[in-house]
Order: sequence, then C-alpha cells, then structure tokens
Amino acid sequence: MRTRAAVVAGLGGYLPPHVVTNKMLAEQLDTSDEWIYSRTGIRQRHVVSAGMATSDLAVEAGRRALASAAATGTATATATANMVILATTTPDYPCPASAPDIAFRLGLGPVPAFDVSAVCAGFVYALGVGAGAISAGLAERVLVIGAEAFTSIIDPRDRTTAPIFGDGAGAVVLRAGERTEPGALLAFDLGSDGHLKDLIRVPAGGSRQRLTEAVPDPRDYYFAMQGKAVFKNAVQHMTASLQAALRSAGWGLDEIDWLVGHQANVRILQLLADQLGVRREQAVVNIDSVGNTSAASIPLMLADGTAAGTFAVGDKIALTAFGGGLAWGSVVLTWPRIELAGAPRDAVESISQPA
Ligand code: UT7
Repeated sequence: MRTRAAVVAGLGGYLPPHVVTNKMLAEQLDTSDEWIYSRTGIRQRHVVSAGMATSDLAVEAGRRALASAAATGTATATATANMVILATTTPDYPCPASAPDIAFRLGLGPVPAFDVSAVCAGFVYALGVGAGAISAGLAERVLVIGAEAFTSIIDPRDRTTAPIFGDGAGAVVLRAGERTEPGALLAFDLGSDGHLKDLIRVPAGGSRQRLTEAVPDPRDYYFAMQGKAVFKNAVQHMTASLQAALRSAGWGLDEIDWLVGHQANVRILQLLADQLGVRREQAVVNIDSVGNTSAASIPLMLADGTAAGTFAVGDKIALTAFGGGLAWGSVVLTWPRIELAGAPRDAVESISQPA
C-alpha cells in the first residue's frame, strides 16, 4: 500500500458578522421561529453584507487556515500552499473561477488555483481532489476552501429556502505526509446521481436557460429545492457513502468517535446517526447558529468543534456531505493536533477586498 497521504495540517473558518435570527425572518416572511427551529434545528444564520462576495469570506478563512498550519508547527510548517481549490456554489462571477483571485490575495504566487462545483458535497469533493494532487506529487501543500455567499442566490420571498441557508467559509491546509500520521485522509467515497438533478437547481443563468435581455421569470435566477425528496436522498446517500468509506478504511462503526455531517437539517443528522447505529450525540451540530452553508458547512463545523475542544487528538472522525447534483461524499481520518488562528466568529478589522 502507498504510504504517501494528504494530512490535515491547518484549519480556519470565517463567518460574516451580520446575523439574521428566525424572529427577524418571520417579520418579512410567512414563517415562525417555532416552525424553522422544529423542522430544521436552525435558530439564526450569518449573512453577507451588501458588496461582500464569496471570495472575501474565502480569503479570511484561507488566511486563518494557513496561519493555523504555521502555528501547529511541524518542522516544515509555513503559512503557504502550492495549490488552491475552492469549493463553492456561489463564485464571485460565472466566469472566471474565484480561486485564482483568492490565491493572489493570499499572496501565494502563481500557484494552480481552480473551483470545484458540487454544491453541498463540494468541500469533500475538493478534499478528494487535493488529496489526489498530493498523492500524484502535483503539490506538497494544498489549501482547500469551502465558501459560500449562498444567500446571494436565495429568493428572500421564498419561505421554503430563505430560512434554511446562510453564508460563511471554512478551509483546511493539506500537506504531504504518511498514512500512519494523525490527520491523514485515509479513505474516500464519492458519488453522484444526475437522474435527480432537478431536485436542487438554479434554473436560469447557465447555458441551458441563458441570460437574456427579457427575463422570462426572475424567480428562475434563484435557488429552488424539492425539500422532502432531498431530505430522503440525503439520509440514504450519506449513510451508504459513509459505510463505504469506513469499509475502505477498515474501520468499524463502533470505532467512530465523531460524525461530522453536512449541516442541512438537524433531523437529517439524527436519522443518519440512527441509520448508522451510532449515538445521536456523536453527530456534531452547529446548524443552530449558522444554518446550511453548503460547501462551507463541513470545514466550519470542524473549526467550531476544534474551537470548542470537542475533538481530541487521535479521535476517529467521519465526514459526510450531500447536495445538489445529486452529489455526495465521505472521508475518514484520525484527528490531528491543530492550533487555530482565530475562531469562525472572530471579527476582522476590515475584510480583504480585491485590488
Ligand atoms: O444542503 C443540501 C441538502 N439539503 C437538504 O438536505 C434539505 C433537505 N430538506 C429539508 O431539510 C426539509 O425538507 C425542509 C426543512 C426544507 C422542509 O421541511 P419539511 O418538513 O420537509 O416541510 P415541507 O416542505 O413538507 O412543508 C411542510 C409544511 C407545508 O405546509 P402544508 O402543505 O403541510 O400545509 C409547507 O407549506 O410546512 C409549510 N412550510 C412552512 N411553514 C412555515 C414550508 N416552509 C415553511 C416555513 N414556515 N418557512
């Protein structure tokens, strides 16, 4: 077996300061704190301010992850990376990708930088691509970021989506290391089912339904989701995917300490734990304070769990995510020592803007 592996070396998260509570939403929409909380587990979400884009959140999360890698302090640790991968559903522009701008603003030089589009599974996909690049010798250190200004594609008048989603960014630094080290990404499972592509989509603005001077229906430019069907598929695919990743790693379910699932709905996380036969308390949760942040969800949960001291060095952790595409993915690792350089809710003096 190959011993070279991608190892988690740094971690960071960033949430924009503006918070929208359920009560605030209920003043504009036909909804209530009671409905939102009981159906989803969400109490509030962080939302970008006017003019703030996905890359602005990503730069801050990336900066914190690079500083974390340097602070975590292996002999070779530096605040740098030689590849940047951004998982996002909400890039700054349809063209070009946002990752090159992020790499530039982080001062990383002319490194390869590109976006990965797999909606809520995007971060796990990007981890897989980053780990593959390290295994293939294409890069020694990869900055993998999940970032979303997701509310930019949400119709504020749509009560079926507006209460669910929030904005934020999380990032990890992967470095080349050994499979035996804590933090090594040991086994992946990635999958998709395009047959169900219409369950989650933004109908217009791509090459199928193009931008035109006369907008046929402005609602087509917003995100739409068939919630009930997505819910069932989420539980089913995350369960099967995680089981497959565990089999590849040779780990039993009884060995798992923490389940870090995509924060789409607390009821999905509870059912996932039930299906897998692990205790519900092992499924960590921060959706109450951040909502569904799509590609940022998993790294933000990792950063929150680390800031709270939930994960101990050596804990066995299983990550799993699911979303539009449909696309899903899981990965397992043993938790490494990580020094954070700021918690996701820490303020910044001024958010870095493009030059
Ligand atoms: O991140 C990518 C993956 N995403 C997911 O995994 C999301 C999965 N889906 C879900 O989490 C849930 O389906 C939702 C939270 C989106 C919706 O919850 P639900 O329990 O499936 O509700 P529903 O859509 O079946 O609606 C139930 C009722 C309906 O009323 P009737 O027909 O029973 O009278 C809706 O009109 O709740 C109504 N409703 C609302 N009521 C108050 C829908 N949205 C709201 C709302 N406030 N915001």
